[in-house]
Amino acid sequence: MSEAAVVDTQDKTNEADFDVEKVRKDFPILHQQVNGQPLVYLDNAATTQKPESVIQAISDYYRFDNSNVHRGAHALADRATTSFEGARKKLAAFINAEDSAQIIWTRGTTEGINLVAASWGRTNLQAGDRILVSAMEHHSNIVPWQMIAAQMGATVEAIPVDSTGTIDLSALQQMLDEHVKMVAVGHVSNALGTVNPVIEITRLAHAAGALVLIDGAQAVGHWPVDMPSLDCDFYVFSAHKLFGPTGVGALYGKRELLEAMPPYQGGGEMIESVSFAGTTYNQLPYKFEAGTPNIAGVIGFGAAIDYLSALDRAGAARHEHALLEYARGKAQKVSGLRLIGTADHKVSVLSFVLDGIHPADLGTLLDQQGVAVRTGNHCAQPIMDQYGIPGTVRASFSFYNNFDDVDRLFAAIEKAKQFLV
Ligand code: ALA
Repeated sequence: MSEAAVVDTQDKTNEADFDVEKVRKDFPILHQQVNGQPLVYLDNAATTQKPESVIQAISDYYRFDNSNVHRGAHALADRATTSFEGARKKLAAFINAEDSAQIIWTRGTTEGINLVAASWGRTNLQAGDRILVSAMEHHSNIVPWQMIAAQMGATVEAIPVDSTGTIDLSALQQMLDEHVKMVAVGHVSNALGTVNPVIEITRLAHAAGALVLIDGAQAVGHWPVDMPSLDCDFYVFSAHKLFGPTGVGALYGKRELLEAMPPYQGGGEMIESVSFAGTTYNQLPYKFEAGTPNIAGVIGFGAAIDYLSALDRAGAARHEHALLEYARGKAQKVSGLRLIGTADHKVSVLSFVLDGIHPADLGTLLDQQGVAVRTGNHCAQPIMDQYGIPGTVRASFSFYNNFDDVDRLFAAIEKAKQFLV
């Protein structure tokens, strides 16, 4: 069967399977003109758009229930606390965590990694220890480890990644020894879209006595994640890449590890009792939640979980895959276009460079035609250096994108190319 025929079949199967036009109606932001053209939003790896129900939940909280949580002796405080803690339970169920006390609210993925690096690292690392991260990590899964390693006399080393953007598992096996205390990898690469074999990585790391932290920021928006199957020690992600608001995220940890870790920040809520003779700390999860939290954000996060729980996620994943295949087929026909990240197992992220034009300039030309993409090194400078490029143009698809969006992207690329002649 020809490539076009394959794409056509996928297209039709998919349209029958997942009603993308119905889903698009849930996202008000998509229905606008940008630079005189209908918006084509292909920057979902940077942040996803929010359904009306999430926007409404945040607005309702401020309109009707605004109050601090766990503190007030009044009805509004009760309502806010019920919604806030209800969201924690929803999230625990969503990722199949044993207990909602294992869900710590953070500002996002970055803070979750910093929390583990600082708190676990301070008490568990010593001189000569090694931390392994993959060569394709986002800076937020490199720099917090470098910071704690510098304090403790440990080192941070990169697990090699091949030219397709695939982790070299045999190299990882060779690197693992009794000095490796932590293996920290992304579930999905934000820059390349590679889905990493995290179950296998976790198995190998555990066999060598190391813990595993998975940066799930780019995975959770694409399919449901299940903590018992992954068996990782820590899993971190952000609400805003899961159709929820910015400024809030979650850290999941195995209970015995979280129990043994010291608080990350001091303040209200994280204490049991304070005196100048000595302070004792609150139980999980509050031990790690100093200060008034992002209450509206958590409630919006809960609404996003509700939205996703009602969605046909398997159909959404098939639709995204069909979009990726359709886009890959089109990309192959564009002269001078080179895909960056061609691993076998990928999410719907298309990173590429085009001969003769800097990614930033191409991004601007696409924006002028209403097509929103991200350009640059995607906060993953080491992997860009490995490819010998300053950055890429990255089109990242979500389930609310349709095949017209892909056509618009490639029509805009062709038009941009006319500026080069
Ligand atoms: N980490 C986000 C991205 O990949 C911001 O664009």
